[in-house]
Amino acid sequence: MSLTPHQIGLVQSSFSKVEPIAELAAILFYRKLFELQPDLRSLFPRSIEQQGRKLMSVLMVAVGSLTNLPALLPVLQSLGARHVTYGVQPAHYEPLGDALLQTLQTVLGDNYTREVHDAWAAVYTLITGIMCAHDRPEQHNLQRAAG
Ligand code: HEM
Repeated sequence: MSLTPHQIGLVQSSFSKVEPIAELAAILFYRKLFELQPDLRSLFPRSIEQQGRKLMSVLMVAVGSLTNLPALLPVLQSLGARHVTYGVQPAHYEPLGDALLQTLQTVLGDNYTREVHDAWAAVYTLITGIMCAHDRPEQHNLQRAAG
């Protein structure tokens, strides 16, 4: 899985349109996630607003660091390891990815082109691959996980 510089540019420029309305986007995102998979709601004991701010701030860091993956790897690896302790399973990442892409589509409107969709899907696959690497020992090779 590798990202082209063009895809990184698309993800960064589209996310810059989301950042000013990050709180609203986060609320939309969790609404979509719990619509897609209502049983995930019970995993989140705390306020969704608070959770949404944390998710958005990590996404901001991740999107901003796509050109500097070595700095991002340890952050996402420890985030992934903490998620195991929250009861999150690898299969949960798929509905979360769907909710994220649907939220971007809603927020970006016409700017959410097929190319933007594919670039975000690639970024989400990359993030998920790193966060879940502990689950698949063969992916411990960081270079491969980073593409
Ligand atoms: C791109 C993938 C994801 C990102 C960037 C992300 C980000 C975060 C962040 C920043 C936190 C705050 C706590 C911490 O830093 O350890 C958190 C907590 C949490 N996340 Fe995620 N997450 C992702 C995927 C998932 C998935 C797939 C699930 C399962 C549906 C999930 C469920 C949770 C839960 C249950 C908590 C703890 C809530 C609490 O105890 O209040 N996350 N996540």
